[in-house]
Order: sequence, then C-alpha cells, then structure tokens
Amino acid sequence: MATKRGSWKTRYGFYLLAVGSACGLGNLWRFPYVVGENGGGAFILLYGFMALAIGAPLLIAELMLGKGTRRSVIVATQQMGQKSGVRSLRWVGRLAVLVSVVVLSYYSVISGWVLHFLTQFLISLFSSTDQVVDKTNLAALMSNGWLQLMLASAHILITVVVVVKGVQQGLERWIGYTMPLFVALVAILVMRSFSLPSTPEVLRFLFYPDFSKLTWSSLNHALGHVFFTLSVGFGTMVTFGSYMREEDHIPTAGFRVTIVDTIISMIAVVMIFPVAFQASNVPLTDPALMFEVLPKYLLGIPGGVLFGLAFFVCLYMAALNASIGLLEVVVSNWVDAQKEMERGKATWYSGAIALLLTVLPALSSSIFKDIRVGGRSLIENLDSLLINWLLPVVALGILIAFNMGISEKEKELGFVDKDKFVSYSMYPHWMFVLQWAGPIVIVLGLLLQIVGVFALD
Ligand code: PHE
Repeated sequence: MATKRGSWKTRYGFYLLAVGSACGLGNLWRFPYVVGENGGGAFILLYGFMALAIGAPLLIAELMLGKGTRRSVIVATQQMGQKSGVRSLRWVGRLAVLVSVVVLSYYSVISGWVLHFLTQFLISLFSSTDQVVDKTNLAALMSNGWLQLMLASAHILITVVVVVKGVQQGLERWIGYTMPLFVALVAILVMRSFSLPSTPEVLRFLFYPDFSKLTWSSLNHALGHVFFTLSVGFGTMVTFGSYMREEDHIPTAGFRVTIVDTIISMIAVVMIFPVAFQASNVPLTDPALMFEVLPKYLLGIPGGVLFGLAFFVCLYMAALNASIGLLEVVVSNWVDAQKEMERGKATWYSGAIALLLTVLPALSSSIFKDIRVGGRSLIENLDSLLINWLLPVVALGILIAFNMGISEKEKELGFVDKDKFVSYSMYPHWMFVLQWAGPIVIVLGLLLQIVGVFALD
C-alpha cells in the first residue's frame, strides 16, 4: 500500500528510538527497588533469564508484526484477527494502547518527581546547600499533590512538543544528542558509588543468589518488569517495527535492544545499592530508593550538588526519551486507525487525555492518601495493576495474535537471514519460545501471582 509512512534514514535511527524507549525510569528507578523487594541476587538471575528467554523473542515478534503490516498495533492485530478468523484479536491492540495511555500518565508523575529534584539541585547550585536539603525532602513533595500535578503536566507538555515535531526531524536528532551524555553521566556515578565502603556487602546481596528469598509472585514480578523495561506489551515495538527499513534484520535488532537495556538495569543496581546500604535506615524495597537516599547522600559529599544535578538531568532525559516512545505509540495508532486524523492534532489530544488521567496518581499521596487497597496507595496499586497484571495479559495476547496471524513462511523469512548462520540455529528455539514456552511461562507467572495474593506474600 502506498502510504506516506516515515521510515528511518539510517539503522542508527531505529536504535536510538528503540533503546531510548526501552531505557528509562524502568531501569534506573523501578528495577532497583523491585530487586530489593524480591530479595536481590536470585531475582536478578531470574530476571536476566526471563529477559533473554521470553522478553527478547516477544520484542522481536512485536517488531515483526509492525514491519510486516507497516501498521501500529491496533490495525496490526485487527489484520491478524481477519487473517486468522479470530476477530476478537483486535481487542489485544486496543488494550495495548489503553495500557500505554495509562502508563504514560503514571510515568509522567514519576518524571515529575525527577523534574522536582533536578530543579532543586539546580537551585542548590546557587544557594546554600542546607537550605535546599529540606526542600528536596521527598516527604515534602509527597504531601504536595498540586506540585506533583503541575510537574507531571509540565512533563506531558514537554513530551507533546517533542513528538509534534515528527519521527525523523524531531526524535532522531533529539535522542542522538542526549544519549552519549547519558552514558557518560551514569558511568561517573557508578565509579563514585563503587568507592563506598559498603560495596562488598552490596555485591554479595546482588550477585549471590539466595533462592529462598523468592516469593510466589517473583516470577510474575520478573516478567512484568521485563515487559515494562523492554517496552513490550504496549505495542511500542510494533510501531517502531513499522518504521523499519526493508533490509533491517529484526532478530539482531531485538537482541541488541534487550542486551543494552539489561546492561543499563545492572548498572543502575550497582550504582544505587552501595548508597542505599550506606544509609541503612531506608528499606531497600522502597520506591523512594532513588528519590530519598540518593539526593541526601549526594548533598552530603563534596561536589555532590553538581553530581546531583548531573544525575537528575540524565534521569530526566531517560524519562523523557521513554515518554516520547509511549506517546508516539498512542499517536501512531490513532493516525493509523483514523485516516482523517492529523498527526499534530492526535498528539495534542493524546497529551490531553494523559493529563486528565494523571490527576489520580499525582494526588495519590496527598488528597487521595486515604484510598488504600491491600495496604497500598493508589499509585502503588496502579503500578501493580499495570505492570504485574495487565502487561503480561497484553503480552500474551500479542503472542497469540502473532502466532495465529503470521504464517510459518513469513516468520521464517523475517527471522532467518541467509548471511547469518546464528539465525538458522536460533530459529527452532525462537519458534518454541513463541508458541509454547512464552505463553506457558506467562500463564504460570499469573497463576503463581494469584496464589501469592492469597498467601499474602
Ligand atoms: N521501557 C521504559 C522504561 O523502562 C518504559 C516504557 C514502556 C517506555 C513502554 C515506552 C513504552 O522506563
């Protein structure tokens, strides 16, 4: 079909966007505390295995769906539904986009927290540190719901403005500038962190697997986080796949994105845990790991304000890159499904919807702080609902749509590259994961998690 669909001029463009979308707050903020919650080393091992065994093949499947149909996830799953005769498959795409919008609103609240610390460190540069220590206190931010809402709105606005500029001109250049800086800043912080005396203890916690620490829900927590961090189960990679060039080899791209994302997550834990162990009064399972422990530590060391600023700038860039990916998916689905819709308009409307939805999580720790389910706040429940329950379900749906709607021939053509011997030998394994292991493990994870809910772990 001769539509005017953008595609990347260079292969580099794809990696910038895909890696930029994958590496975000999921790696730097969420992964460390999920590791803490699930007891350290054993969970990291489980997570790493799941990322490679289930996450990467699913990512490849999403890319292939997009590249094959040249459409985003709603239309792609609709087509799979028509091809296979199972029309209800179209609901998978719709659910994926719904999850994306809600995640964007939730993600914007956390990005707003990053913005808060960034500005606080900036202010600290020009005033006395002691004065700002109070203000950077997480509790102060938490009790101020309107501030959180304002920051989240500012983040959504910035994201919309970047996306309005379009796939090629806007995003490629933007992300191209920020990535190298991001890597350099994180590297500096890791070195700093490693010089702390708590490092040996941390390494034992992170890399010595104690399987007795795993709970019923750990498998699903690992899977949910794999999907979240790889941006799988949202339809993000379907959209990115639809922009790929004909000659791009999808499995290579999928594996590279998985590897880079996993490395960044590992770097995040070795960066944050030495600091957290040092400040032992903070539980390692707390989402505040990054927003409480780190700023306080940084403010206490010489040159810490500059470090803090650098760190939060880099964290914000990561959050922005990921948010751009989320919004991009919603917009591209909208434009694909409704031909008369203009891209710019769809972007503003999607931003407005995310803004409306953001009210609930933004006010979760202030006005709505008494609304607690299972002892957890609104925002914590939203995180769990989205990432531990809905994402695995959508991922399973995408797997089923892929298996039913794409023929064996197409799968083989997309996967096997005649110049790459590995792709021949990997092909049967990949088929096994997509058709059997993937769905079984996802269902098992969900079932064990249900057991976990009753066992109260
Ligand atoms: N993968 C991103 C992260 O780890 C989150 C995200 C999900 C971004 C889906 C885009 C799409 O932070």
